[in-house]
Amino acid sequence: MSERLRVGVIGCGGISRNHVSGYLTTGRYDVVALADLNESAMAEMDARFDLKTTHYTDARQMLDVEGLDVISICTWHAGHATWTIAAAARKPKAIICEKPMAEDLGRAEEMIVACRRNGVKLVIGHQRRFLPAYTMARDLIAKGAIGDVQMMICFGHDGLPNYSSHQTDMWRYLLGDDECEWVMGNLERKTERYERNTRIEDNAIGVFQFKCGARALLLSGVTPIVYQGAHIYGSAGMINLTTENLQLLNQDTKGLWETHEPAGKFFTVAEKGDRFEWVEGAAGQADELADWIEGKVDTHRNRGENGYKALEMLMAVYESARCHEKVILPLKTRLNPLDLMIDSGQLTIERPGRYDIRAFLLRGESMQSDNAS
Ligand SMILES: NC(=O)c1ccc[n+]([C@@H]2O[C@H](COP(=O)([O-])OP(=O)(O)OC[C@H]3O[C@@H](n4cnc5c(N)ncnc54)[C@H](O)[C@@H]3O)[C@@H](O)[C@H]2O)c1
Repeated sequence: MSERLRVGVIGCGGISRNHVSGYLTTGRYDVVALADLNESAMAEMDARFDLKTTHYTDARQMLDVEGLDVISICTWHAGHATWTIAAAARKPKAIICEKPMAEDLGRAEEMIVACRRNGVKLVIGHQRRFLPAYTMARDLIAKGAIGDVQMMICFGHDGLPNYSSHQTDMWRYLLGDDECEWVMGNLERKTERYERNTRIEDNAIGVFQFKCGARALLLSGVTPIVYQGAHIYGSAGMINLTTENLQLLNQDTKGLWETHEPAGKFFTVAEKGDRFEWVEGAAGQADELADWIEGKVDTHRNRGENGYKALEMLMAVYESARCHEKVILPLKTRLNPLDLMIDSGQLTIERPGRYDIRAFLLRGESMQSDNAS
């Protein structure tokens, strides 16, 4: 009988509820401790999941006294590296850190090094790899159901690292973790736009070439349509993928769209509706982590190295805009090229006035975030 894993969470806002829901769904974890700057965020978590946790306003104190097996890092992006490194130094069994992995590749690499050096398993929260429609699409592609993948098209918004790290990660998942060879892209930033206190662009586009010959196109903020999923065009068929279902068209379907809504390991779309992707993704991610810790699997599909590559492809779009060139991976620039463009004056603001598209998350003074319900 496997022992239940003791979990602590750093940052008890929106996405941390998803982590806790995932841990509890698997029945393999006990959530014992929470850390947040705001006591109200921790109290809300206990109330929501009927937990009896110990609360810490100093996360390092939690790390020092609780003897945790697994730590969730759910602060804003700029805290991901700081808290992953602090947690890794205490040698837990594993860490799940949210996406985007870090604010730049240099910091992301430090996270991998800190976890490797301390023997800690690192997972980055691209939980959509656990959606059954995504896995079905990956399996169909692997067995040649649509021939060679020629183009995958995705529609994003709200900043490349924030929204589209799920999309670059998905492409690699669909292609059996194939490597991206080069990236070319461009962006616009005429306003002083931030997302969770990191600078983001107004709009961006990127083209991505993979080793297997597949290509991908990312349109971010330039179309009215935005969703997680993709149009996938192959030499012998097509797949339309969403977080809930998959449509396939090939010779076997006689040129007609055939819709599949595969069940997850824990839930079905019929039962969870638009919550499905969140609850299924989080539970799958936590479950595979417990398997990894117990040695039932050799690795985790969301291991740190994959989170790094998802971020690298987006930093390469920024780098392409900065250097006006096709960027060959691996990317050598360790700082965030968007920040470099802004700080050097290469990218100037035409409509001044800083604003944050996640301002509604602001807490403090016992104030709840707008999306606390
Ligand atoms: N995987 C996904 O699909 C997904 C979805 C949403 C958000 N996210 C990611 O999750 C992260 C958090 O986003 P969110 O929407 O949950 O934000 P949020 O503002 O709702 O929650 C962040 C929490 O961290 C706390 N915090 C800040 N500094 C802290 C510190 N030093 N110690 C302890 N707690 C601290 C804040 O008080 C807040 O409660 C972001 O990086 C975001 O990109 C991922």
